[in-house]
Amino acid sequence: MAAKDYRYVVLGGGVAAGYAARAFVEKGLGKGELAIISEESVAPYERPALSKGFLMGNPPARLPGFHTCVGSGGERLSPEWYTEHGIDLLLSKTVTQVDPATKTLKLVSGETVQYDKLFVATGSSAVTFSDLGFSGADYRGIYCLRNIQDAQKLYDAIQAHKGKEAVVIGGGYIGMEVAAALVQNQVSCTMVFPEAHMMERLFTPEIAQFYEDFYRRQGVKILKGPSCKSFVGNENGHVTGVVLTNGTELKSELVVVGIGAKPNTKLLEPFLKMEQRGFLVNGQLQTSDSNIFAIGDVATFPLKMYDNRLARVEHVGNARQMAMHAVDVVFGSQKAYDYLPFFYSRVFDKSWKFYGDTPKDATCLVFGEMNPKLFAVWVRTNGQVVGTFTESATPEEEKKIERIARERPTVDISKLKACHTAEEGLNFFS
Ligand code: FDA
Repeated sequence: MAAKDYRYVVLGGGVAAGYAARAFVEKGLGKGELAIISEESVAPYERPALSKGFLMGNPPARLPGFHTCVGSGGERLSPEWYTEHGIDLLLSKTVTQVDPATKTLKLVSGETVQYDKLFVATGSSAVTFSDLGFSGADYRGIYCLRNIQDAQKLYDAIQAHKGKEAVVIGGGYIGMEVAAALVQNQVSCTMVFPEAHMMERLFTPEIAQFYEDFYRRQGVKILKGPSCKSFVGNENGHVTGVVLTNGTELKSELVVVGIGAKPNTKLLEPFLKMEQRGFLVNGQLQTSDSNIFAIGDVATFPLKMYDNRLARVEHVGNARQMAMHAVDVVFGSQKAYDYLPFFYSRVFDKSWKFYGDTPKDATCLVFGEMNPKLFAVWVRTNGQVVGTFTESATPEEEKKIERIARERPTVDISKLKACHTAEEGLNFFS
């Protein structure tokens, strides 16, 4: 079978792929120049919707509603859009081999595809307890959440469990969002995680306390400290409970695991320089092979605004921006990628956003009592503001905290500390 030859190939069909496609078209892509190869059976979509509107909307979000690039307020790229723009969307095609020497990709079907420039956007996979070799981890009724099939299976399980008990393992993004979806679907839920509080990597104890209190008021039970040791099941191979490290067994036939993600880098690890489990890229997002770009979850890049400290970021905003930046580079830009770290989530009627950095030497000052608003800043001992956080802010306030985090003003800490409410804190900054 003759190899199909493309000027540009995106390996992976997730968030970064969708935003790259739009950027290519905006730059003036020729028909037949770009292929996107994805093991998923659907066109690129906004993955964060899977743990939000897909599970708990009324009616729930379904494709084609959340194809990229609606997540950032742009045009929705339907499967037809790709055809109209001469982009080959090769779906349900897993790439099994990449040979950078001949610039060839081999697909599971045996087909081969050649590229001039390759964009690796293979994203991450959910870490499972099966990966970690836990006893009983393969029982039916244990779910993880990474793609649309996972989300559909979880949605169906939730519908079948109304009025019953579920266990969510993990206190990060997925754990928090799925726990919210469960109780909003009338499924009782216990969250279990070993850390001292929810979202330990970002929230301070004070911020976490607010969300934990709020979750408890919504009926979510929270067990902090113990972690999962094993699973028990019945003779039909279905989970019936989770055994914790403190010996407790939580009875449940629905278990959701949100214990992290691992970047999908296996195919190219032998060929490219690695850092922090990702492909090391320069400011132009090129890997150690200048014909191969890495974008999204799999890329480890220099954070320009933090002295080029290396980071790998598993977040949607980074996937979108890296994709657009890499296309700019292909079309001649030499600008270095300049990412401002940004995290967000929406649960129940809550909506938080964070911008910037939380270095160890920064103190977090919190303003307001989340009633409903909160504003927080991370300030270094010299008064430099490096990180900003809001809950229930207006769009203008969210723009303002983004600007503060980017500009990193130096403030008089004692004067800032005199602010009490979120509004006072926000108004302190011009
Ligand atoms: P992404 O995972 O989107 O796409 C990778 C693609 O590559 C997939 O289509 C995959 O099938 C394909 N692929 C992999 N290997 C392949 C192979 N060998 N051959 C062919 N195709 C292959 N972030 C955030 O900032 N806020 C949020 O609220 C959330 N919420 C959220 C919820 C859920 C449920 C998930 C799973 C993730 C989030 N995220 C998030 C994270 C965010 O979605 C994630 O960072 C981006 O999707 C990353 O985009 P990428 O394009 O890098 O990978």
